[in-house]
Amino acid sequence: MTPVPRQTDPPQGDSASAPEPRSAPRSSPRWPLALVTGASSGIGAAFARRLAAAGSDLVIVARRGDRLEALAEELGAAHGVQVETLVADLSDPAQLAGVEARLREGERPVDLLVNNAGAGGHGPYSTLAIDDVEAMVRLNLLAPARLTAAALPVMVARGRGGIVNVSSISGEQPIPFVATYAATKAFLTSLSESLHEELRGSGVAVTAVLPGFTRSEFHDRADMGRSIPRPLWMTCEAVVDAALAAVGRGQAVCVPGFGYRLLVGLSRHAPRGVVRRVAGMVGRRT
Ligand SMILES: NC(=O)c1ccc[n+]([C@@H]2O[C@H](COP(=O)([O-])OP(=O)(O)OC[C@H]3O[C@@H](n4cnc5c(N)ncnc54)[C@H](OP(=O)(O)O)[C@@H]3O)[C@@H](O)[C@H]2O)c1
Repeated sequence: MTPVPRQTDPPQGDSASAPEPRSAPRSSPRWPLALVTGASSGIGAAFARRLAAAGSDLVIVARRGDRLEALAEELGAAHGVQVETLVADLSDPAQLAGVEARLREGERPVDLLVNNAGAGGHGPYSTLAIDDVEAMVRLNLLAPARLTAAALPVMVARGRGGIVNVSSISGEQPIPFVATYAATKAFLTSLSESLHEELRGSGVAVTAVLPGFTRSEFHDRADMGRSIPRPLWMTCEAVVDAALAAVGRGQAVCVPGFGYRLLVGLSRHAPRGVVRRVAGMVGRRT
């Protein structure tokens, strides 16, 4: 199915009946138009809320159209921004192509692309349905790779733009029982870092964001995370604030939270065999 764009305009008409925008930094938002994938919940919805509050118009993408419509109405009313919704399953090549086409549009170019949609899953690799593995690779790896490829020519031609790829600390090491997810995120971080260097001096920033455990719908959907101690959890807002600050200053990699920065630093310097064993223990627990 081809995704159908729908425009949610800011309130029109008689100023007496039009709701007042509650925050109004509409003059010159850092990112005039941002496209956020996976905006129907969790980190993506938090990106949409933060960007709208800063005055950005939005294109929001996910499968659950009802959630997108509700968010579009909420943000249009609260901030006076324009929010376009695109309903698309990004693991489906035809639906993904609709979002790529939107990014190639030169008429209303996207200033910031947030590749956030993603899903997890776990289990011994030998027992997994290969179609589920492929769907995860399509969503977590191919979709951001293709959307980035669609967005970049327009951004490079304009000499400005930003791309945030929501990767994960899971991509920093192999994780037994979460093998596909960890591999897709390793790809995404590596792709982002390479592009960051390729685009140096172009005016386009590519930033990989590597969250740790973050409260969202992610772990319920993947049936994971119940044994994770409470202090390890971050909020979506904290992740998004760190990510937007990082892409704003052209940072290549952003690990939100001091504890997770320490963890990533340790895992990069520890012997690979030790890291694998520890990751295996964590993989079994989560
Ligand atoms: N939560 C964590 O602890 C954590 C840690 C590290 C990294 N991350 C990454 O953060 C990103 C956001 O996850 P989250 O924590 O916010 O989880 P979430 O609440 O489950 O949100 C995932 C978003 O992705 C969308 N999505 C899932 N499958 C899709 C598909 N096939 N096509 C289009 N959209 C799809 C979902 O919308 P629909 O279901 O409506 O399509 C939803 O909006 C993911 O890339 C995840 O890997 C999360």
